[in-house]
Amino acid sequence: METESNNYWDERYLEENIPWDIGYANSGIIKYVQRQFPLTTRILIPGAGVGHEAAKLYALGYENVFVNEWSQSAKERMLAVYPGFPAENILIGDFFALRGCYPLIIEQTFFCALPPARRMDYVKKVKELLAHDGVFAGVFFDRTFADEGPPFGGDAAEYRALFSREFKVSVTSPWKDSIAPRAGTECWLEARVS
Ligand SMILES: C[S@@+](CC[C@H](N)C(=O)[O-])C[C@H]1O[C@@H](n2cnc3c(N)ncnc32)[C@H](O)[C@@H]1O
Repeated sequence: METESNNYWDERYLEENIPWDIGYANSGIIKYVQRQFPLTTRILIPGAGVGHEAAKLYALGYENVFVNEWSQSAKERMLAVYPGFPAENILIGDFFALRGCYPLIIEQTFFCALPPARRMDYVKKVKELLAHDGVFAGVFFDRTFADEGPPFGGDAAEYRALFSREFKVSVTSPWKDSIAPRAGTECWLEARVS
């Protein structure tokens, strides 16, 4: 699939064809992290794009927040928008080749960008990257899309079944902290290794 290449995503950023970019940090995600995780937590946000949530968390004192991006142009855009964010915390490369160990992994509109056939690979990769007592949490589209993806939709029951193969899972649907344009169309999923 053409979307499974860094060139595809790079071009989308170069053409400024990035309708998924909300332009600010999703406050629901920020509130979730602040409520449950100390400032020292090592956090990974894969497929983070311009990294608004990572930049916000860093500004709030989460100095160990990392983003992963396949697109060099997304990285450049993030550093242009957030010059104070440490470039070394932007991990460029394919998520599926990433190494490391993170107690917290946050998802927003990366899972939906992957071809559905890769969803189980995503779950397994998240498990590989999570610390033994780690938490994966994030926001997922709880709807389908008429056009060919990305984004690829789904529903809460499907995600619960998928993540339950590797994790203890809780799903909240609908998610009450969605941004206004996505209200009622998203769920929140939290998965724990143990
Ligand atoms: C739909 S965008 C969402 C970006 C960001 N999460 C947001 O909400 O603005 C999907 C992002 O995933 C990145 N991406 C796609 N495949 C990737 C992969 N295999 N590894 C790392 N990043 C990837 C793209 O470059 C793009 O920035």
